[in-house]
Amino acid sequence: MSRLEVTEMFQGIKYPGHLHTQESLQRALTLPFQDTDILIVSYPKSGTTWMQQIVTLISNKGEPHVSQTVPNWALAPWLEHHYADQLIQTLKPPRVLTTHLPHHMLGHALRTSKAKVIYVSRNPKDTAVSFYHFHKLANFLPDAGSLQEFLDQFLEGTVHFGSWFDHVKGWTSELGKTPNLLHVTYEEMSMDLHGAIKKVSTFLQRPLAEDEVLSCVRHCSFSSMKENKMSNYTLVPGEIMDHSKGAFMRRGKVGDWKNFFTQDHNQHFDEVLQEKMHGCSVEFVWEEADPKERL
Ligand code: A3P
Repeated sequence: MSRLEVTEMFQGIKYPGHLHTQESLQRALTLPFQDTDILIVSYPKSGTTWMQQIVTLISNKGEPHVSQTVPNWALAPWLEHHYADQLIQTLKPPRVLTTHLPHHMLGHALRTSKAKVIYVSRNPKDTAVSFYHFHKLANFLPDAGSLQEFLDQFLEGTVHFGSWFDHVKGWTSELGKTPNLLHVTYEEMSMDLHGAIKKVSTFLQRPLAEDEVLSCVRHCSFSSMKENKMSNYTLVPGEIMDHSKGAFMRRGKVGDWKNFFTQDHNQHFDEVLQEKMHGCSVEFVWEEADPKERL
């Protein structure tokens, strides 16, 4: 199934038809979760692949064999992708699953389960810049146009996968209401990967020895994942992802938006952010901390 030009509209949100069908999206909403499931949830470009790698390595006590021999989309399949159905049947518990679906679609199914949910978010300026570049190589996404045009659509919530604001507000509004939900930000993984891995391993009740944490850190670094064919998406054929137009593992930095936003972009973005995130308690980190402050 190629369907590179097809867009599926599902509950008012656009999804790439290359990966989704109406049936696969509908099926995802009724997938029976198991209490042992681990579900990674994110808006695209927020650090999904990074968290898939972290969870895989924690599950293997830092031993990299699995993460170096099985692609991330098979280790932690997306519930809503059309190929996931058969794949999910073959996973042994505890299953690691992934989704980009918003909370209002999945919250109901999760409420009756003890599945552990890890919500990964990233500051919206870096998310938007990463998504913009991803549109250039992903032939299953529409032409993004200019950065200005793309940012307008991102802020309106009309891009594929819907509104970033609604996604973050929806999932984070559940924080504190359920012990089964952990929020991890891209920025905390970036500034303290060791600490983030320990936080996730504690949440998953998979304690690690210090040498195992260090091995996870080594194999989850940007350079290591950029080299790893199982996490860098170079296994995806060129007609689906045009690798001559950019790399999936692109910059891997906090604050890269500053290299692309004009003052006008930034001012408008801040205005919309303030208006749409009013009342949301999530705080954003916009730039890499000064190395001195990290000590
Ligand atoms: P950039 O485009 O800013 O480089 P997702 O997996 O949700 O699609 O997110 C992809 C983004 O996460 C890309 O961001 C990618 O480079 C970044 N990323 C993936 N693994 C990373 C790692 N180990 N360290 C830092 N960034 C990583």
